[in-house]
Amino acid sequence: MKILVTGGAGFIGCNFIYYMLDKYADYEIVCLDALTYAGNLKSLTEALKNPNFKFVKGSISDKAFVDALFDRESFDVVVNFAAESHVDRSIENPFIFLETNVMGTACLLEASKKYGVKRYHQVSTDEVYGDLPLDRPDLFFTEDMKLITSSPYSASKASADLLTLAYHRTYGLPVTISRCSNNYGPYQFPEKLIPLMIVRALDDKNLPVYGKGINVRDWLYVEDHCKAIDLIIHGGIPGEVYNVGGHNEKTNIEVVKTVLRYLSKPESLITYVKDRAGHDLRYAIDPSKITAALGWKPETEFDSGMKKTIEWYLANTEWIDEIKSGEYAEYSKRIYG
Ligand code: NAD
Ligand code: DAU
Repeated sequence: MKILVTGGAGFIGCNFIYYMLDKYADYEIVCLDALTYAGNLKSLTEALKNPNFKFVKGSISDKAFVDALFDRESFDVVVNFAAESHVDRSIENPFIFLETNVMGTACLLEASKKYGVKRYHQVSTDEVYGDLPLDRPDLFFTEDMKLITSSPYSASKASADLLTLAYHRTYGLPVTISRCSNNYGPYQFPEKLIPLMIVRALDDKNLPVYGKGINVRDWLYVEDHCKAIDLIIHGGIPGEVYNVGGHNEKTNIEVVKTVLRYLSKPESLITYVKDRAGHDLRYAIDPSKITAALGWKPETEFDSGMKKTIEWYLANTEWIDEIKSGEYAEYSKRIYG
């Protein structure tokens, strides 16, 4: 089995590559990544030592390049993680999100059709369902809900989902889609809530909490997401969408206080700042379809996942320092002062 993993130098993609190399000793994995600010070849250092793994630098939006790669490699399965993934950046500059997330997905779908891949898997997000009200804890996202998006990021991911489903219906391409809730774990770029708070708290910098900190996210340890994708590409039904989430809802302020507790830092670091434009109130996944169909269940409790995550950041200060010295330094200064 030969798998193309796009975006594998990013957070979830690299965790998926390690998970698959470890589990399937006879699978070949090729990672295609453009190494944007969010991609880091250092995250793949151990994978690069494995003879079954190969890294290719390039963009999923470069149609000729993607075509040539598919022609050369004959992939059985494509798993598309590559994306611009940060909501705040999409509010600042929507166009790169359309180019990568929509046109890039289109290039991969077209090549998958042309070269007859046996499974194309689109890694999507719960954000395509918009948000849920804070005062209705009985409501959850289900796969049959309408796509009603809030940010340019979620709109671009919803567009990619629709295109993926269109390739199934029109051309019979064997596609699957997973829509996952918020991930946390090792190798996450420190622009996202949990690693941002860890990295800033370690430096005794203020922790910027948007609005009142009452927005709710459904947190899932990244390895549980990787396990779900593994099950879907092997046993999921073509044309189907699977929601992935841990029934682990937390307000942002709860999450930030958890980080402070683990690091023994004072709550006085918390600073309430201007709210995100169009800020989604609550995400909450109903994962009963994937549980019933494929036996998937989240395995990592939030406490142990947070412990593992924080220990990883404490043990990998070099990885963080390198990021802090790059494009991130300028972004961080512009956004957080
Ligand atoms: P990330 O930003 O950490 O990584 C994205 C990777 O894609 C980077 O390595 C980057 O270099 C690469 N990339 C960007 N543009 C590219 C291009 N044009 N061609 C090739 N590579 C390109 O993102 P992540 O958090 O790992 O998310 C991965 C996927 O999972 C995304 O599709 C995202 O929408 C989805 N997702 C993320 C979460 C989450 O909580 N992080 C939850 C659900 C779904
Ligand atoms: O739900 C899945 C999505 O989760 C993925 O599709 C996205 O790629 C991923 O980035 C994530 O989106 P969010 O917008 O939920 O994640 P983020 O870490 O940016 O923010 C989480 C919450 O924390 C959100 O309510 C905004 C808030 N926040 C975020 C940052 C960066 C703050 O209060 N302060 C901050 O500095």
